[in-house]
Amino acid sequence: MSEPTLLPPSKVTSHHKTVAVFPGSFDPVTFGHIDLIERSAVVFDEVIVAVASNQEKTPLFTVDERIDMIEGIFSHNSQVKVETFEGLLINYLVKRECHVIIRGLRAVSDFEYEFQMALMNRKLAPGIETFFMASSALYTYVSSRIVKELASLGGDVSDLVHPLVEKEIKTKYPSR
Ligand code: PNS
Repeated sequence: MSEPTLLPPSKVTSHHKTVAVFPGSFDPVTFGHIDLIERSAVVFDEVIVAVASNQEKTPLFTVDERIDMIEGIFSHNSQVKVETFEGLLINYLVKRECHVIIRGLRAVSDFEYEFQMALMNRKLAPGIETFFMASSALYTYVSSRIVKELASLGGDVSDLVHPLVEKEIKTKYPSR
């Protein structure tokens, strides 16, 4: 693969908006994600929530359903855009002429994988930087996987996800 080329941020951000990409599976988006997206939008002019389309083989929600939920939650915030991407994340950033990836860290256990991914992404595209944000202490235990497990067993997920997502989860597990 030829190395993706991107101008250093200093060459382009002075007269451009600073845009950050917040990538993930979002199957489904949780309050933990929402908190990180909102806080990112305070720091950056625009945050693109990039929903990975080829991650899990058997997701609970389709990519379009995931996008609709995130768009619905952030309909009041014009700084937040929602898109999907396929293949390598850095190729998507190069295409969008964006230099910043934001990832959340909930606990030390997240760090090893996240660090590995950040280093690999920087090796593939040296102009792209990963910024880590500490998740809110309120949501350190929240993950999409835990939400799905709890919901599938009839547990209450209202403290973990937006009401719009809770409603959609109920359509997936109607008997609960
Ligand atoms: O919400 P997740 O599942 O933790 O998100 C992980 C995601 C989608 C951001 C990551 O797996 C990713 O970037 N996938 C695209 C393929 C890629 O570029 N992988 C990293 C370099 S090998």
